[in-house]
Amino acid sequence: MKNIDSNGHVRGESLFIDDIITKSNTLHAAVLSSVVAHANQLQLDISGALSFPGVEAVILAKDIPGENQIGGIIFDEPLLAEDEIHFQGQPLAIVVAESNFIARQARKLIKVTCNQLPVITTAKQAKQQGGFINPPRSFGMGDVEKAFAECDYVFEDEVFSNGQEHLYLETQGAYAERMENGCIKLMSSTQGPTVVQRITARVLGVSMNKIEVDVTRLGGGFGGKEDQATPWACMVALATHLTQKPVKLILDRHDDLKMTGKRHPYESSFKIGLDKNLKIKAFQAEFLQNSGAAADLSPAIAERTLFHATNSYFIPNVKTVVHSCKTNLPPNTAFRGFGGPQGKFVIESAIVKAAEQLNIPAWKIQKANLLQENDELYYGQIAENVEAQNCWSQFDKTFKINKIQKEIDSFNDTNKQFKKGMALMPICFGISFTNTPMNHARALVHIYQDGSVGISTGAVEMGQGVNTKMLQIAAQTFSIPEQLIKLETTNTTRVANTSPSAASSTADLNGKALLKACQSLLERLKHVVADEFSVGVDLIEINNGRVFIQQKETDWDWNKLVFEAFWKRVCLTENAHYATPKIQFDKTKEKGHPFAYHVYGLAAITTTVDCLLGTYEIDRVKIVHDFGQSMNPGVDMGQVEGALAQGIGWMTMEEIAYNNDGKLLSNALSTYKIPDVFSIAKDIQIESLKTEGNDMAILKSKAVGEPPLMYGIGAYFAINNAIKAFNPQYQCQFHAPMTPEKVLMRLYGKNSS
Ligand code: MTE
Ligand code: HPA
Ligand code: MOS
Repeated sequence: MKNIDSNGHVRGESLFIDDIITKSNTLHAAVLSSVVAHANQLQLDISGALSFPGVEAVILAKDIPGENQIGGIIFDEPLLAEDEIHFQGQPLAIVVAESNFIARQARKLIKVTCNQLPVITTAKQAKQQGGFINPPRSFGMGDVEKAFAECDYVFEDEVFSNGQEHLYLETQGAYAERMENGCIKLMSSTQGPTVVQRITARVLGVSMNKIEVDVTRLGGGFGGKEDQATPWACMVALATHLTQKPVKLILDRHDDLKMTGKRHPYESSFKIGLDKNLKIKAFQAEFLQNSGAAADLSPAIAERTLFHATNSYFIPNVKTVVHSCKTNLPPNTAFRGFGGPQGKFVIESAIVKAAEQLNIPAWKIQKANLLQENDELYYGQIAENVEAQNCWSQFDKTFKINKIQKEIDSFNDTNKQFKKGMALMPICFGISFTNTPMNHARALVHIYQDGSVGISTGAVEMGQGVNTKMLQIAAQTFSIPEQLIKLETTNTTRVANTSPSAASSTADLNGKALLKACQSLLERLKHVVADEFSVGVDLIEINNGRVFIQQKETDWDWNKLVFEAFWKRVCLTENAHYATPKIQFDKTKEKGHPFAYHVYGLAAITTTVDCLLGTYEIDRVKIVHDFGQSMNPGVDMGQVEGALAQGIGWMTMEEIAYNNDGKLLSNALSTYKIPDVFSIAKDIQIESLKTEGNDMAILKSKAVGEPPLMYGIGAYFAINNAIKAFNPQYQCQFHAPMTPEKVLMRLYGKNSS
């Protein structure tokens, strides 16, 4: 099935938050944010702004009727600053005016005074001064000390990976309207409607049933709207509560870039030990996560880093620790992969370090250590239905690793200015929210008396195609044409208590709930046929919109069946709930079975470096990916391609830069380079792994949203290998992104980072 949004998107008819038809008396909000990164004794003089013509209100922390607190996991983040400021871009005041223009003019008239304090921008500085969000977490298995002592080779190094800007096309925004009896209806561009509902209720000091949140779709989220869509929704709700008028707030790109958190930069170190047969016997890593000024989702992201610290390898002795370091940057947040990519970059760096020292290709070490069936992952889960080796062997059969390497070697032998490099990147990504209680979802299905169907779930459409998948599930279960089915908006009054659409689990969780709801309705409808024709229920089938008894077509079609059911007073609505079975995790022991299943894959990335300029091109990406049994190859291929591009961007060109005062320097698209049509791989071949699929995945179609991002890590090492081909003196530096500037330094330097 084609993505059901594609026509609307191409014609510009799809409705995003800024397209909502607002009431004529709608006010517009603008947020004043801090230009210093750390201060106390904050004082705001709002008199100038308040008297500016067209301004209706200027809202400060003291005007909040409930709690000035938007923290999710830890209560450490005010909606509006009170006495202290902790990052540049922190919201200080909300100006509400007749127009957007007036609100932005007026906010310039607010006078801010404060007492500036020293600023910390890196995780290492924070750790030195003991600035942490929460206590460290540590996972382990076996005995690393003993194992290192027995290893033939031991290597150590440091690794840095930078943050990443989400750059969703649609910036953050929300719209609030007052309803009866002090209730507020919010339209929000959020991945987590229930998060918005819960936190808005807290800020206003009302119960959750007074806040309705409705989400039509997002112009991209990528994790940036899992938690950080919330403050803007709280602000318009607050403004509506105080002015009694509808209020709209859409951040412009500059405000969005400087006020919102990004992927967490990590400063890490590793120690890896191998035996003579290249088996990794021991691995140790310390991760310093730059969390920013408040917790946001950092503790959960830190946890996923630990879960993915061994990627797709079996290592018998492992010890990892992660520190969430508090700095004066905007709170960093979820970003596709959720800490997993940062973890994987470190183990891959360790393997590359070992390979460099042993003078062998890294893929020999990768291959020798792939997970096998029933291996114990170091957090206690026994690996089942492992596809790591299958991906490798199918890849080698189709694409021939030796052949790719030979072509590269012969190119490099005969070229001086241009050098090619190749790297393989295996992935293994755990599917489920690592926080077990979040793994459940609901669906609500109405069959209307004319036979048409309306579906509500907790799933938020953000471009990943989940609505198309939901529609497919209903169409397939009922065996009716897709035109009969409509996907409703995601709304907290229809489907309550939803987990955010995240962790790549949206289709699995909501799809399984939807499948259950459709199956019960189908059962109920079959009983109507059974009663009418006096036959057993199991002899009845609905096929392509027609009713069959014992494979014989009757004169009843779907519409007739539905109408008869309605007339016989059968309930045509069903609500179902799904909770992932089997998963658990014991945080006191840091052991358990947190994931429903894992997604595997293998990519080879080849690149050409211009050794005069330091520029590079990604020539080719070949992938064998574990889709399970894809329920929609078009949508799923799109996810692999998009994630790959985003992963390559993170590893090679996207460079977030803050100065020592905590000011975002990469604050526009002229200073922050994202992959475009020219930088994407010239040739991408994606092959589906031949596999049965997994029953824990919806219709055996495995989660696909995040895992392929990590193929992008291969781009870093492919370029690294090309540099080595030109400059044999070069010792690998694990400091991403691999920008052309860095490539040039590494081509001609000995040991520059
Ligand atoms: N694809 C598009 N087009 N837009 C997005 O915002 N978000 C990614 C991924 N793919 C995203 C996307 C992230 S971070 C996640 S967790 C998943 O989609 C969420 O959707 P899923 O659970 O349905 O895979
Ligand atoms: N992944 C993504 N988002 C999340 C998770 C997770 O594991 N836990 C909480 N939010
Ligand atoms: Mo995705 S980072 O789990 O929203």
